[in-house]
Amino acid sequence: MLQTEKQYVQWQENETLHNAVWLSESNHMPPARIVLVDDTTTADDAYRLACEGTSLLWRGDFHNARQLLQALGRRIDRTNERSELRKMKKAANKPNAASVQGIPNLFHQQRQLQAQRSRILSRLLLELDANYVSQLRRAPDVSAACTAAFGPLDTAMDTSCVLSFRDLQGALGAAGWREKGVPIDSLGLSIFPHYGVFAPTRHEYVQLLLDAALPDTCDVAYDIGTGTGLLAIILAQRGVPQVIATDLNPRALACANENFTRLELTAVQLQQADLYPTDAPLANLIVCNPPWLPAKPSSSLEYAVYDAKSAMLRGVLQGAKQHLAEHGQLWLIMSDLAEHLQLRTRDELLSLFADAGLSVKYRLDTQPKHGRSQDDSDPLHVARSAEVTSLWCLTLI
Ligand SMILES: C[S@@+](CC[C@H](N)C(=O)[O-])C[C@H]1O[C@@H](n2cnc3c(N)ncnc32)[C@H](O)[C@@H]1O
Repeated sequence: MLQTEKQYVQWQENETLHNAVWLSESNHMPPARIVLVDDTTTADDAYRLACEGTSLLWRGDFHNARQLLQALGRRIDRTNERSELRKMKKAANKPNAASVQGIPNLFHQQRQLQAQRSRILSRLLLELDANYVSQLRRAPDVSAACTAAFGPLDTAMDTSCVLSFRDLQGALGAAGWREKGVPIDSLGLSIFPHYGVFAPTRHEYVQLLLDAALPDTCDVAYDIGTGTGLLAIILAQRGVPQVIATDLNPRALACANENFTRLELTAVQLQQADLYPTDAPLANLIVCNPPWLPAKPSSSLEYAVYDAKSAMLRGVLQGAKQHLAEHGQLWLIMSDLAEHLQLRTRDELLSLFADAGLSVKYRLDTQPKHGRSQDDSDPLHVARSAEVTSLWCLTLI
């Protein structure tokens, strides 16, 4: 899931061949063509080069690079606005059958445009030394944020690394979340997400987990795909004496561990596992908030949002029979956005439950209030504004 093999990037500068570790969170290959750019490079030239596939290694003032990135973003947006998307957006916002049929296309097209935008913007690069220090004029101290996000570099082996400004901005943003935390008002606490871990900035489902009645016996619970640890924290706070939380992503495990430690939770154990824990007692309750959209993730950062071929959803449902104790319950947190985007039907979801030998005991619903669901300039507003997030309480048939 995460890039593990070290890759290198090379470029010619002052008649010398330079070599540096290549860091890319989007798993982009090291660039084959690099030109040096600085404060004298115009945004139009930079945009043309980036669109042609050339990467731009920034040698000017740090803050001017940020402005160049914004200028590139505006050029991409202007081009996209002129494109087909605009027509499709108009069609998708008309509530008639023909326009509703355009929604899956619109979703895929929007993802393609986002991927293309990310590819172009990711071509603006900077070099940091092996301690993540930038030699650019007016560069801030990014070393702690990069170490937290990407891990330390091998200072004995490598003298520098090259990464995109976008990835650097992601690392700086994540460092801010990690320091300030995301307040979860209904719990009266903050969760501290790490870089690359699903951040519960939109957490309408927390109230569902507080409202659902625990099974009569609830000695052991699992939280499958724990991310920051949020659901496990809710269960521990509700008094479940043993909560076993799993995730595949090592960053999630480190993050959840930090959150549990901050809250001095002793009831929660962590396991790196593909879905279900091993060597664990049967569960009276299994909770899972899988990625909600059945589509292929295009980078490691998207694994918490997109579930290719609904693999996690199917795996959790199919495994319930083997892991639930008698009278146990599976609480599945799902939004129906996939249904509004016509990526899955309600009947297909119900068939997945039935195929796994599960029946619906009850369902709790809530309507998201986050900004995106209310943004009527979003091409997918029709789908997003109709979204409902549910806690499905499932039991073995
Ligand atoms: C949508 S996030 C939910 C995180 C957290 N439970 C919450 O509600 O905030 C899904 C999580 O599942 C994890 N995940 C994805 N596939 C997994 C698998 N096969 N086994 C364990 N965890 C997985 C991801 O790393 C991510 O942390």
